[in-house]
Amino acid sequence: MEKEKFYLTTAIAYASQKPHIGNVYEIILADTIARYKKQRGYDVYLCTGTDEHGQKIEDLAQKKGVTPKAYVDDISGEIERIWRSMNTSFDRFIRTTDDFHIQCVQKLFKQLYDQGDIYKDKYEGWYCVPCESFFTETQAKDGLCPDCGRPVKRTEEEAYFFKMSRYADQLMEHIEKNPGFIEPESRKKEMINNFLKPGLQDLCVSRSSFKWGIPVSFDDKHVIYVWIDALSNYITALGYDKEQPGENFKKYWPCDVHIVGKDIMRFHTIYWPIILMALGLPLPKKIFGHGWLNFGSDKMSKSKGNVIYSDDLLPLLGVDGIRHYVLSEMPYAADGSITYEAMISRYNTDLANNLGNLVNRTAAMTKKYFGSVIPAPGVGTEFDEDLKETAHKTAVSVQEKLDSYHVADALEEVFSLFRRANKYIDETAPWALAKEEANKARLETVIYNLLETIRIGAVLMSSFLPESAEKILTLLGGAEAAWDSAFVFGTLVPGSQVGEPVVLFARLDEEAVLADIQAKKQAKDEPAEKEKPEGLAQISIDQFMQVELRSAQIIACEPVPRAKKLLKLQVDLGYETRQIVSGIAAFYGPDDLIGKKVIVVANLAPAKLCDVESQGMLLAAGEDPIRVVFLDPETPNGERVR
Ligand code: MSP
Repeated sequence: MEKEKFYLTTAIAYASQKPHIGNVYEIILADTIARYKKQRGYDVYLCTGTDEHGQKIEDLAQKKGVTPKAYVDDISGEIERIWRSMNTSFDRFIRTTDDFHIQCVQKLFKQLYDQGDIYKDKYEGWYCVPCESFFTETQAKDGLCPDCGRPVKRTEEEAYFFKMSRYADQLMEHIEKNPGFIEPESRKKEMINNFLKPGLQDLCVSRSSFKWGIPVSFDDKHVIYVWIDALSNYITALGYDKEQPGENFKKYWPCDVHIVGKDIMRFHTIYWPIILMALGLPLPKKIFGHGWLNFGSDKMSKSKGNVIYSDDLLPLLGVDGIRHYVLSEMPYAADGSITYEAMISRYNTDLANNLGNLVNRTAAMTKKYFGSVIPAPGVGTEFDEDLKETAHKTAVSVQEKLDSYHVADALEEVFSLFRRANKYIDETAPWALAKEEANKARLETVIYNLLETIRIGAVLMSSFLPESAEKILTLLGGAEAAWDSAFVFGTLVPGSQVGEPVVLFARLDEEAVLADIQAKKQAKDEPAEKEKPEGLAQISIDQFMQVELRSAQIIACEPVPRAKKLLKLQVDLGYETRQIVSGIAAFYGPDDLIGKKVIVVANLAPAKLCDVESQGMLLAAGEDPIRVVFLDPETPNGERVR
C-alpha cells in the first residue's frame, strides 16, 4: 500500500547573521515532528532553508566589503551546518538564490500581474529598512517603526501592489470552515481581530530603492518584495511550475504544516494563503505558530549580549542535551525561557539522574544477576501491573500530544514514565530479591519489566532524542523503534543479550560549567579595534557654547506605553523639573537610572515622541548598545557643563 504523505516546512532563516538557539529550536521542533510521522509510517518531506534577499543583506555585505551573493553563501552554509549539527533530518534545504526558485518567483509574479491581482502605482509613506516594510503616516507615529521602534525613512516611489482585499472574505471563510488551519487558537484570534477584521490594505510587493532581490521580469527597475520571494519557497522547493509541476509538487502539496515563529504568523496566515488563492492552488492544511525562546524573560539580542548559540552549547550538553532542553522548555502556545542555570539543572535532573541512571542501573543489574541475558518474566504483582499500565497510558498520551503539537507535554510524559520506572526499582528492591534463590522468578520479572519499560520509553522518545534512543535500543539488543511496538508490553525476547552498562549522560558540575561559560564569554567580548571616524567640520568655541548642557538628576522613570524603545524620565535641573523621553529602554530600566546624575541638552526645542512631550535630551554614547553619560554623583543639579 502506498504511504500517506506528510509535507512540513520551517520558516526559511534570514541569511543575514548566524542563527541563535531560538532559530535552531524551530528546525529541532520540525525534525521531531517529521521523525514522529516517519515512525507512524508516513512518507515525510521536511523542507527548510535560507531567505537571502533584501536591503538588510545588501547593506551588511557592503559593510563587509563583499558581494551580497558571497555574503549569503557564507551564512547559508553556516546555517545548513548548524541545522545538521543538531541531527535534523531535512529532505530539502532551499536557498532563495537558487536559479529554479528565482525563475519560478518571476513567473508567478508575472502571472499575478497579468491576471490583475498585482498593479503598478505610486507609493508615498514611511519605510523601515530592518523590517523591509512600508507604513502609513498614522502607523509610523513620530517617525518610528511600529514593529521594531527604529526610525523610518520617508519614501516616495513607484511600486507594485497586491490587491489583498479581493481575497479577504474567501480567506475568512476558509479560516472559519477549517478550525485547525491556524494554531494555537490564541494566535488565530489575534490574526482575525488585529488584521482581518479591520480590513486588509493592498500590499506593496516590489522595491526599487535597492537591487539585491529577484528582479520583476517585465520591469527591471523593481525587485520583488522579499516576503513574496520567501513565502514561495514552500512551493518552489517542490518544483512548482504552473504548466509542468514537478513530481514532488504533485505528491506533497498542499503542505500539511508550516511551522513558524509567532512573529511571522501574519505573513503565513494572511498573505501566503491569499497568494495561493490567487494562484489557484490549494492552501496549506495548518500553520502552527510556536512561541519564542527568550533569555530568561528577555528577548535575545546582540546588544544585550544575551544571545545563545547552539555551537557553544554542544560541548556542554551534546546534541540530545540541547534538543531535550529546547523541546521541553517551549510550551504549546506561550514563550519559553533559556538560561545556563536552567539548562544545567534540566540536564542533570532529567537526563543524568532520571533516564541515565535508570538505564545504567538496569543494565548493571541485568549483568550482575543474569550475565546480561534478558530473563523471562514470571508472575506479576500489583507493582508490575501499575508499571505496565503507566507504560501503556504514556504511549497513548504521547501520541495524542504529538498529534496535537503539544510537543513539550509529550516529552514530559516520556520522562514521567522513566521516573515511574525508577520508583519501581525502589518498590521492588531487586538487590534484596537477589539475596535469596527463592526470589529468582520474582527478580526475573522485575528486571524484564524494567528493560521493557526502558524499551517503550526509548521508542517513544526516538523522535525527540534520536541518538540517545538509538543507543538505548542498541543496548537492549537492537530493538526496533517501530511506533506500534510502544503499545505492546512484552516485545523484548527473553534469552537475548543486553549490552554493557553505559553512562549515557554524565552529570554536569554547575559551578564549573558556569565559570567556564563566563570565561569564554569574556574572551569573546574583547572589543574590536575601532576605526578612526571621518569626523565633522570644526566649530568655534562660541558655536559650542550655543549648546546649553546642564547637570541634572533623574528622579523618576517609566516606560512609554506602546513604544518599546522609549523611557519617560523626570529630571531635576535644580531650577526646574523637566520631562525627557529617551530611546534607551533596550539598555536601561528605572532601577539603573533613578538617582543618577546625567547631562541634559537644556536648550533643545521640545519634541513629541510617540505622543509624549520631551523637553530636552540626555547625552549618551553609541547606538547599539547605547551608554548614558553619568556624572560624578556629587555634581550639583543645574550646573553648566562645558
Ligand atoms: N526569513 C524570515 C522567514 C521567512 S519564511 C517564508 C524570518 N527569518 S528569521 O531568521 O528571522 O527567523 C526564522 C524563524 O526563527 C522564524 O520562524 C522566527 O519566528 C524564529 N525565531 C526567531 N527568534 C526566535 C526565538 N527567540 N525563539 C524561537 N523562534 C525564533 O523570519
